[in-house]
Amino acid sequence: MRIVAISGSLRADSLNTRLAHAAAGLVPAGVEIEVVTLQDIPLYDEDLRSEGWPAAVTTLGERIADADGVLIATPEYNYSISGVLKNALDWLSRLSSAPLAGKPTAIMSASPGMFGGVRAQDHLRQILFGLDARVLTRPQVIVNLAADKFQEDGSLSDSMAVELMRKLMEALTRAGGDKDAINVQQTRPRWEPARARAVGGIRGAGQV
Ligand code: FNR
Repeated sequence: MRIVAISGSLRADSLNTRLAHAAAGLVPAGVEIEVVTLQDIPLYDEDLRSEGWPAAVTTLGERIADADGVLIATPEYNYSISGVLKNALDWLSRLSSAPLAGKPTAIMSASPGMFGGVRAQDHLRQILFGLDARVLTRPQVIVNLAADKFQEDGSLSDSMAVELMRKLMEALTRAGGDKDAINVQQTRPRWEPARARAVGGIRGAGQV
């Protein structure tokens, strides 16, 4: 089982890159997790794309396509995700292989502020909806006041966040191993049986 963890920050001392590495230490046994950053992804430019796909984009797309799950650690910039992360998602959305479509995807955020990047997570969910990723909803991992929470060895001192991260990585591993669940979700929305029953009931009453 393989997971790709993407940090949405370029800076060397990024809290979110540290968060991705901390999550990598919390995956269940047998799971390989690779942390990637987005340094080599150029700014999206349709002219550039028409000259040929940038190697960094195709490589990232292949890594995601080959993985069983994806983790994204996003910074919050002005109540949204970083431009760097949005730019990478824009590139990925144009690949014909659609590597994120149906892919089990977990998200988390760290910020030195009080709200821990929760507003960026809302925007990220919305964007990933556009890419048809299968985003896990629980548990939500939001690390606030994060500048003081990472130890020298990269571990996180917030024990509640660590516990939630462990649970999220377990949920991602389960989702990554459950290809049938992906198919069920893609082809048969969860609400369909209930809707069928409701329609049947109305028909039975002779109203349609
Ligand atoms: C920020 N930061 C920030 N933090 C936050 O909680 N909410 C916000 O809306 C913003 N807005 C914002 C805009 C811009 C342009 C910058 C540069 C920063 C602070 C941000 O969370 C902090 O710099 C983090 O350390 C960024 O994440 P990394 O790089 O540490 O992963």
